[in-house]
Amino acid sequence: MHFHKYEKIWLTFGMASLVLFLSIVGVSAFSQDHTPAGGMTTIDPKKVNETAPFDKPGVTQLDDDTYQVAIVALAFGYTAPELKVPAGKEIIFKLTSTDVVHSFTIDNTKVNMMVVPGRITTKSYTFDKPGKYLILCNEYCGAGHHMMFTEIEVY
Ligand code: CUA
Repeated sequence: MHFHKYEKIWLTFGMASLVLFLSIVGVSAFSQDHTPAGGMTTIDPKKVNETAPFDKPGVTQLDDDTYQVAIVALAFGYTAPELKVPAGKEIIFKLTSTDVVHSFTIDNTKVNMMVVPGRITTKSYTFDKPGKYLILCNEYCGAGHHMMFTEIEVY
């Protein structure tokens, strides 16, 4: 096979850029100890129902200003009995999945968590305004993906 001179130059340039940028990503990930956005806490996906806090999913008040919300995502829904949290307080969402990758996305907020089996994803958020917020899954997770939603009431 014959390569034209300019083709060789561009191929070399392309390969070199690829190696350079992948090296930058790789070296910075290890040297700066990057972790997945949700955290590195692991959980046995088969024992989710026996592992705290997912053995009792729902809202727990931790102290005067902090609430924890534990939710299990599964095809196709969220084990969230009744989600009611106050506005102006720190809400710590903890999620895991028992089957495939889902998401926990609260409409009109900055909460957009990837929910991965075997990991606990944590995100803290404070709602400014009371109201009902739609929660949905935005990771395609199977035939019932479009039916995977719930809501949270902020009072
Ligand atoms: Cu769960 Cu899409």
